[in-house]
Amino acid sequence: MMIQENNFKKPVIEIKDLHKSFGNNHVLRGFDFTLMDGENVALLGKSGSGKSVLIKCIIGLIKIDSGQMRVLGQSMSDMTQKKLNSIRRDVGFLFQGSALYDSMSVRENLEFPMRRHHEKNDDSKTLLVRVEEALDSVGLLHTLDLMPAELSGGMKKRVAIARTLILRPKIILYDEPTGGLDPITGREISHLINKVQEQYKTSALIITHDLACAKITTNRIVILSEGKNYIEGSYGVLEQSSDPVVQEFFKK
Ligand SMILES: Nc1ncnc2c1ncn2[C@@H]1O[C@H](COP(=O)(O)OP(=O)(O)OP(=O)(O)O)[C@@H](O)[C@H]1O
Ligand SMILES: [Mg+2]
Repeated sequence: MMIQENNFKKPVIEIKDLHKSFGNNHVLRGFDFTLMDGENVALLGKSGSGKSVLIKCIIGLIKIDSGQMRVLGQSMSDMTQKKLNSIRRDVGFLFQGSALYDSMSVRENLEFPMRRHHEKNDDSKTLLVRVEEALDSVGLLHTLDLMPAELSGGMKKRVAIARTLILRPKIILYDEPTGGLDPITGREISHLINKVQEQYKTSALIITHDLACAKITTNRIVILSEGKNYIEGSYGVLEQSSDPVVQEFFKK
């Protein structure tokens, strides 16, 4: 009998009927979403629609009110601290605004997640190899000993991307990776995201207001509106849509 490799893709994030309120502010109101292994999906939504809240729920920084959420097969509703730590290792997170620690060098910023997760082989030599590998993949090996203040906005984003790679995550959540950058630098960052996705074989959810970024980096776009997954589809299909909510995002 021939043993065949199982080529079926698995879901890495499964969200069903997710609700999250802050007081009277009912932000997520029955949100559904699935991210398959190896997929890159963009999430569009107006400012304040709950995009950052959603990805904070995915890594357990914000507790959900109701609904089902599985990340890498683990249910987020019965999370022990140990499981949560393992999810946070496997899910890289690029914060809105890149958020490097200003008082730490680039090298120290990159070592930080490894030290926090007490990597088994965290002797200084292994740390340095991993830091250099991650910095090299974003083309910034020469910035190892620089301070964040010495970097341009685009370079800070690159370092922040390198930091998400350091633990070799299975999923990366990007919160506005091109936010605050000029269109040319934004495009470079979008291509860099594609490159690291291929190199590290990760899946990604990319929150963005930047349609060029969504077009370059993803094969599917989800629009978050009124707390729900309003519509999803390819860039090409949504761009042609006559739906007024969709058009709001695509009009020039
Ligand atoms: N920790 C919190 N406590 C209370 N309210 C919160 C908290 N975090 C977010 N909110 C509220 O949830 C709503 C959604 O916020 P969120 O940051 O997810 O928006 P967003 O879609 O990421 O917007 P932007 O595009 O501007 O980043 C907002 O009304 C915000 O005030
Ligand atoms: Mg946000």
